[in-house]
Amino acid sequence: MTQTTTPIVIRQHAVVVPPHPRWPTLNADEKQAIKARIKSLLKARNAVLVAHYYTDGDLQELAEETGGCVSDSLEMARFGARQEATTLVVCGVRFMGETAKILNPEKRILMPDLNATCSLDEGCPADEFSAFCDQHPDHTVVVYANTSAKVKARSDWVVTSGIALPIIRHLAARGEKIIWAPDKHLGHYVQKMTGADMLFWNGACVVHEEFKSVALERIRRLHPDAAVLVHPESPEAVIAQADVVGSTTALIKAVVEMDNREFIVATDGGIFHKMRQLAPDKQLIEAPTAGEGATCESCAHCPWMGMNALQNLLQVLEHENNEILIDPDIREQAVKPIQRMLDFARSQEKQEA
Ligand code: 13P
Ligand code: SF4
Repeated sequence: MTQTTTPIVIRQHAVVVPPHPRWPTLNADEKQAIKARIKSLLKARNAVLVAHYYTDGDLQELAEETGGCVSDSLEMARFGARQEATTLVVCGVRFMGETAKILNPEKRILMPDLNATCSLDEGCPADEFSAFCDQHPDHTVVVYANTSAKVKARSDWVVTSGIALPIIRHLAARGEKIIWAPDKHLGHYVQKMTGADMLFWNGACVVHEEFKSVALERIRRLHPDAAVLVHPESPEAVIAQADVVGSTTALIKAVVEMDNREFIVATDGGIFHKMRQLAPDKQLIEAPTAGEGATCESCAHCPWMGMNALQNLLQVLEHENNEILIDPDIREQAVKPIQRMLDFARSQEKQEA
């Protein structure tokens, strides 16, 4: 892997954003050979792939072709428990691998690159966060899934973007005051939609924070019939222009189900792979980012998600390294708020059925 620029430090919580990984291009034969080797190693290791929509299209296809899953972070968390495979290979970012381990302690969890973190996770150190919670003992602690196992262990609830709204609505209806961490944009959106009493941690996703509202207005004028789809980690002024705000799964569903022919999409560009697969006749337009000078060098492409590639997936299956391990005491605490979220999601689905 060749790195092309020096790391950038952002102010919020001194998160070091790595340059976007540049992987050597593979020709069709090389790609075919690597894929075939991965498929045979998955069988040999009794392993299954669990991939996020932001990862490289080849990884997503491989996961689907081999009985694995490609999904948002909520479904990634649920998928592992249903598998007979003894090893889950998580293609995504570290919190996704950790969640898989917390929920499936008997399984071995491997990742192509253990350095694939997330700016939200990095911007919420467990000790500082715990001290913040200690100052507000009368608050229910709700943390986004994009956090470390230690931060989850300090929480009462874990949420993903797909389930945040109904959970906060439920807590607000019970009159609970809420500490929300780490993503302030998602937090403010949820507060606006629910009216909940919330205190915010000052974190943000460096990828979504780069979507620009004024430039988006300009693009909307050029494409007046386009529907605007926005992931709620984006800034408020971008969310305000959305026709649909939701998780990666919700945005994909919108492209498939809405009658519009054009969509302006404000989330990581990796999502276009699945959108094009499911709705090949729709026109997809990337929402504008800051471009040069932005804190996120690889605008609209998460540099940590980019650390997953066919090459290092093959390596991890060959060497069986890069295992996610969680301290058992932390795991015991962290599983409770995650399980609470999964139970809530199940009861919601039952009610809707
Ligand atoms: P989803 O749960 O919507 O897939 O989001 C995960 C994420 O990291 C978005 O940046
Ligand atoms: Fe984290 Fe943002 Fe990357 Fe999602 S896109 S994994 S929130 S840095």
